[in-house]
Amino acid sequence: MPALSHRITTLNGDGSDGWDVFYRARAMIAEGVPVTELTIGEHDIRTDPSILKAMYESAAGGHTGYAIVPGISALRDEVAARVQAQSGVRTRRENVLITPGGQAGLFAAHMAVCMPGDVALFVDPYYATYPGVLRSVGAVPRTVPTRSSQGFLPQRDVLEAASEGAASLLINTPNNPTGAVYPRDTLEGIAEVVTKRDMWLISDEVYDTQVWEGTHLSPRALPGMAERTLVIGSMSKSHAMTGSRIGWIVGPEDAITCLVDLATNTTYGVPGYIQDAALFGLRAGASLEAHVAEPFRRRRAIAERVLAGQQAVRMIPAQGAMYVMLDVRATGMSGEEFAFALLETHHIAVMPGESFGQSAAGHIRVAMTLEDSRFEAALRTLCEFAAGLAKAA
Ligand SMILES: Cc1ncc(COP(=O)(O)O)c(C=O)c1O
Repeated sequence: MPALSHRITTLNGDGSDGWDVFYRARAMIAEGVPVTELTIGEHDIRTDPSILKAMYESAAGGHTGYAIVPGISALRDEVAARVQAQSGVRTRRENVLITPGGQAGLFAAHMAVCMPGDVALFVDPYYATYPGVLRSVGAVPRTVPTRSSQGFLPQRDVLEAASEGAASLLINTPNNPTGAVYPRDTLEGIAEVVTKRDMWLISDEVYDTQVWEGTHLSPRALPGMAERTLVIGSMSKSHAMTGSRIGWIVGPEDAITCLVDLATNTTYGVPGYIQDAALFGLRAGASLEAHVAEPFRRRRAIAERVLAGQQAVRMIPAQGAMYVMLDVRATGMSGEEFAFALLETHHIAVMPGESFGQSAAGHIRVAMTLEDSRFEAALRTLCEFAAGLAKAA
């Protein structure tokens, strides 16, 4: 076959996509091994039946043709009103593009702000697809490392040093995988650096309804930031609609106009019946979102209780999102070694921190996506396993 493009063959950088433990767990499940799955961010509840009913009624009512590319007006208006209410920033339909999920939004946003060869910054640890997204638009990914001991918050001096010559910075709060919710002073430091360097800020806020401590602040709300920020939103996590592929980009009107052109030539929009279902879900209001988020709030409390006083494994305080990060360095193992050993010994699957970057080495990420009592039992087994390893180390 003729050569494939360099862009697509190098998406995974060094060739490893960091998902080996995940694939091994899947293979074991396929072989019939009862694996306790705590790897990916998939809720243990499904999309609410009321949303599915709205989806069906829309499709049955004929909304199965091409939908208007930027998104149906009622949904764009609803997203704009929601974002304005949360952030206080004036937001209109023209500031909103509906996308097939947050992932497509991340890609489109970087297509919009990075020229081929531009340096694009992202914070380490990071959501596993970030470097691939940046490479897919021809940008050169550069990390902003953080430290476990500083709650994985990006520090201003580190960001400043990394930002030399960069076109964009991608941040994620509430954060996957760390659970960090960036406080105002962290966001103000970020805003100062990106403004000084005349960079774009891409703010991934797909976990904005899952905040357990503090409050979510969108950096778009900081002075002068609305003109240089593209916010990525999604209903995957807030409404357990991962499979429906529905999200949005919010940004300056001129940027959204260009992003609509990109959508016309790539996705050609999002199915109308999915958009109608999303509109129904958003209009259902905060109680439905709280219902989806509540299990994670409970399980975070369970994790804090189980992990309290543990020596071999330390919980990184999680203020938001549906994961907990555990520091397993006292076992003498890397995150990957620990995750593989836990999987082989106890059939419990977690993600190695290394899958999310070097700043998370020696950690593991546990998704809180299992019914409470099974989640607690898995954590207790994990702690006993770690304690045994630390004693032997
Ligand atoms: C931080 C982060 N951003 C974006 C996404 C993509 O979400 P979506 O399902 O909306 O594409 C995810 C999914 O897990 C995520 O964790």
